[in-house]
Amino acid sequence: MIKTPYYLIDKSKLLRNMEKIAYVREHSGAKALLALKCFATWSVFDLMSQYMDGTTSSSLNEVKLGKLKFGGETHAYSVAYADDEIAEVLAHSDKIIFNSVGQLERFADASASHVRGLRLNPGVSSSEFLIADPSRPFSRLGEWDADNVATVIDRISGFMIHNNCENSDFALFDQMLGEIEDKFGSLLEHPQISWVSLGGGIHFTGDDYPLDQFCDRLKAFSERYGVQVFLEPGEASITMSTSLEVTVLDTLYNGKQLAIVDSSIEAHMLDLLIYRESAKMAPNEGELEYMVCGKSCLAGDIFGEFRFERELKVGDRLSFIDAAGYTMVKKNWFNGVKMPAIAVRELDGSVTLVKEFTFDDFVSSLS
Ligand SMILES: Cc1ncc(COP(=O)(O)O)c(C=O)c1O
Repeated sequence: MIKTPYYLIDKSKLLRNMEKIAYVREHSGAKALLALKCFATWSVFDLMSQYMDGTTSSSLNEVKLGKLKFGGETHAYSVAYADDEIAEVLAHSDKIIFNSVGQLERFADASASHVRGLRLNPGVSSSEFLIADPSRPFSRLGEWDADNVATVIDRISGFMIHNNCENSDFALFDQMLGEIEDKFGSLLEHPQISWVSLGGGIHFTGDDYPLDQFCDRLKAFSERYGVQVFLEPGEASITMSTSLEVTVLDTLYNGKQLAIVDSSIEAHMLDLLIYRESAKMAPNEGELEYMVCGKSCLAGDIFGEFRFERELKVGDRLSFIDAAGYTMVKKNWFNGVKMPAIAVRELDGSVTLVKEFTFDDFVSSLS
């Protein structure tokens, strides 16, 4: 039995998402690039790369990882590149997408022979959180003035627009794409433009998503403007594929039943804490309710309140589901809490431990 805490990636669950992505590629003509910012656990790239076209990145490190471990098409994007990284970014990418006209101009000579694009900001998004809203007031994420972009269009061949955020509503996707067409139509139909990436945040691998309508919309967009469409699914690629396995270390009562586990939401599922969301468990039913807490010193290190059929005891194993996206890429050594190992359930059901972290990793993370 693998010692907790550990993330457990289940390839057969991953495969369900991959098959939907393959369906969309086939029926819409769009290409799908894994957004490494969401999930970069390369042990399962052997499976994912059979169903996706490549990766997209947010930094030099990610672009190198994508090229090295995933292969296929490698898009480079960053909110801002530094002078001393641009040569390596270009060497490891097929396309570079600049966030601003300023960056495009700054690196115009260095990238003259590369496929180049620019991020557009349509000023509308589906984000419910200001902190994650690319269209928030005064946003730095992409260019919003079509006239200004038109002045550099001869230097680029495509655009990236990321304005869907956890969007499982096809009608809203469709409506926002319409708004993008209204705002940027003259840029999109420019003969110079041959590709458009619509970013991530579209939850098309979820249950009941109208995949055929989605494919038709993508195809119509692609045909209208004569462009190759790209999608950059992060969360949609890995949703519901992974759990965080933990063990109860102590139980207490302080007006509520409390259980402390050998993990920490701050260290191992940080995104939930940032967005003030609860972790998920299934099943989550029974007579007894516990507040399940992490073992860091943070008073609010709480995974959530869950229902159980029976009393929790020290040594009980618990499992938080849907633990792949924005977890492993954000884990940290706060309090020196033991870093969860990473295990993979193969398609034949066998479980392989692919990574363990040690005291030496903790030491080498600082100096
Ligand atoms: C440019 C870009 N592409 C793709 C993604 C992936 O989004 P998601 O994981 O929601 O699919 C993000 C997320 O922030 C992004 O900023």
